[in-house]
Amino acid sequence: MSNLMTTSFTAVDLDALAGFEGRIALVVASDGKLDAGARRVNRLTKGAVARVIEAGKLKDAKAGKVVTLNFPAGLAAIAVDILCLDCRPNALDARKAGASFGKLIGQGGALLVAGSNAKTVQIALGAVMRAYDFNPHKTSVDDKARNLSVMCAKAEELETEAATLRAIVEGTHMTRDLINEPANVLTTTEFADRLKEMESLGLEVEVLEEAELKTLGMGTLLCVGQGSDSPSKVVVMQWKGGAPEDKPLALVGKGVVFDTGGISLKPGAGMEDMTMDMGGAGVVSGVMRTLAMRGAKANVVGLVGLVENMPSGNAVRPGDVITSMKGDTVEVINTDAEGRLVLCDVMWYAQERFEPVGMIDLATLTGAIIVGLGHENAGVFSNDDALCNAFLKAAEAEGEGAWRMPLGQAYDDMLKSRIADMKNIGGRAAGSVTAAQFLQRFVKDATPWIHLDIAGVASVKSETILAPVGATGWGVMALNRLVQDMFEA
Ligand code: BES
Ligand code: MN
Ligand code: ZN
Repeated sequence: MSNLMTTSFTAVDLDALAGFEGRIALVVASDGKLDAGARRVNRLTKGAVARVIEAGKLKDAKAGKVVTLNFPAGLAAIAVDILCLDCRPNALDARKAGASFGKLIGQGGALLVAGSNAKTVQIALGAVMRAYDFNPHKTSVDDKARNLSVMCAKAEELETEAATLRAIVEGTHMTRDLINEPANVLTTTEFADRLKEMESLGLEVEVLEEAELKTLGMGTLLCVGQGSDSPSKVVVMQWKGGAPEDKPLALVGKGVVFDTGGISLKPGAGMEDMTMDMGGAGVVSGVMRTLAMRGAKANVVGLVGLVENMPSGNAVRPGDVITSMKGDTVEVINTDAEGRLVLCDVMWYAQERFEPVGMIDLATLTGAIIVGLGHENAGVFSNDDALCNAFLKAAEAEGEGAWRMPLGQAYDDMLKSRIADMKNIGGRAAGSVTAAQFLQRFVKDATPWIHLDIAGVASVKSETILAPVGATGWGVMALNRLVQDMFEA
């Protein structure tokens, strides 16, 4: 994992403050009162912290504002960052305050003086999430271990919460690494290998190779990858933390390691962004890691379809008719509408094999969802109000934008084909809805289902609260919470 920042929670040691050599963060509530740690730093810096407050620098400040004292006299630290936070902050504000520190940490060590702040772990979560940096391909960056020390009251009592934090951070980190990784490194084989490694966490991981996929009849998935030299694969990850007789929740991810569009080739400008077209599979992988790391008391199966969409003499053509695992035939009008062809086979397989209590698919499926919702919200499509509302609630609690979109017969009608059971595109209008409608044709009536179109949120060109430019890890926290709410409450 690229440069993961570890965390340690220890008792407040006022005498260690003067000699600490990284960045030190103090949390100052809106009332301007200093706790013991901040008072010590204030004394060592001959009143510099108090002067910041007296100068009104923190007045009416919102969570996320930070005032930095660089190379403070009296301390070995390279900086003291004063983080603003309400007296009784909510979890999201606490993360935001932490993130403002995480953004500044860089490659050095960091110390968060949290004292008895009730949201200590959330502040730390924000810091570590935002400290993420994808640098394995920068020769100038040395990959030395980084740690965030958190000085707090009752450090031992926070250990359970801290373990959950580490599970969430590592899951999100994995998702971001997968999404940021270029396609010459993250081939379908490398992706499957990285998932296989998660067996060490107690997950059961199976890799289905092309021959098996052919036997299973996954014609639509296979047709997407047939133009690529990288073999198509489906990886099945099972986490069995619940009762053995309970059917699992299924998470299904689109894992197009690179999407050129195929014969319906995309324009050159911006095509490099299509390294993130495995974002759905990346989120599913990260969630499975988080669930395993925190030992979730739930049964969850994650399935990802790994393919590369390339043009070649062997590639699928516009006009080809392909038979899916379900048996329905698809007329491929546009080879760039490939995600749905991958997902429909994996979704059908998931239902046939696992009879899941619910199924959630994630995919960077359409450019149209970016036109509709921008980079603030993922598109949410569902056949089940209860499951959908539970997800929306979890996403809101985690600060991950999600907005429900419609489904309906009139949209489905747009997929009618003259020569096959359906076309793979509906036309220009409502592109995200007809894509979802295509997927719904492969959802059994009895399966509560959500489709998440994450094309706008999986990777971004300007930073978010918890992530730098690039992969965000959107969805790992929301889905982890949904599992908790559904099975562990
Ligand atoms: N992977 C793309 C969607 C996408 C676009 C993801 C931008 C992230 C950012 C998908 O496979 C695709 O090409 N969709 C087409 C569908 C069209 C051909 C019906 C699109 O959105 O243009
Ligand atoms: Mn495409
Ligand atoms: Zn795609």
